[in-house]
Amino acid sequence: MEGLIKERLPRHVAIIMDGNGRWARQKSLNRIEGHIKGIEAVRAVVTSCRELGIKFLTLYAFSIENWRRPGNEISALMGLLQRYLREELDEMLENNIRLKAIGDLDSLPRDAHDMLIETVEKTTHCDAMVLILALSYGGRDEIIRAVRRLIVDAKNKKIRPDQISEETFPNYLSTKDIPDPDLLIRTSGEYRISNFLLWQMAYTEIYVTKTLWPDFRKEDLIKALLNYQRRQRRFGLTSEQLAMEPG
Ligand code: FPP
Repeated sequence: MEGLIKERLPRHVAIIMDGNGRWARQKSLNRIEGHIKGIEAVRAVVTSCRELGIKFLTLYAFSIENWRRPGNEISALMGLLQRYLREELDEMLENNIRLKAIGDLDSLPRDAHDMLIETVEKTTHCDAMVLILALSYGGRDEIIRAVRRLIVDAKNKKIRPDQISEETFPNYLSTKDIPDPDLLIRTSGEYRISNFLLWQMAYTEIYVTKTLWPDFRKEDLIKALLNYQRRQRRFGLTSEQLAMEPG
């Protein structure tokens, strides 16, 4: 498999799909053409991750900050989301891919929201891979909303302050039951996390490529995975301690 070590593949890959606008500008097209082309990259990467055996793939499709973009671009992105869901449902079912969504989903336009929930529900039985779309997502917003829910539970005596820990707090996040990302890929050469999965990325390896998202394909994914496999993740331990650990 292209030099990849199957046993050391990341369980969860998260991607900041950046550079659609620049891709379009380079070709004297409008930004929306860049997003349309970006969907092709989404399809290619979902298929490749499924083939390679990656269990969780999270795509940052629309950030909470993206609501500040021009109205026509927001509508186009929401339209593309619906088109993607409509066109990919059969593919997801055939390939046993479960769809999940994270973010402030209630703020999505009703038709996009409903189609999203419907697709999520239709794929709940699929278990080969989980595709997570981050939509109207902000890491700080997610943490604040988790704290609100936690306080309600505390008030209702469902949790005591001394039970709040690094193990229990993630149950209040929208990524409950999803392991933290092992690898974050960001396209288009920017070295930023951009309010993505702030809690979850405490130990995530970061890989940045200059490739613009619409050009990102399987070869680029493999490069990122090979780079990841060359790294040693120490989680605060020394190399000597790691060498003594079983497995
Ligand atoms: C960043 O490029 C990309 C986005 C804000 C949206 C990403 C969306 C897609 C790839 C298409 C929709 C996805 C799905 C899953 C339906 P940018 O516009 O910020 O690029 P720029 O920084 O070059 O301007």
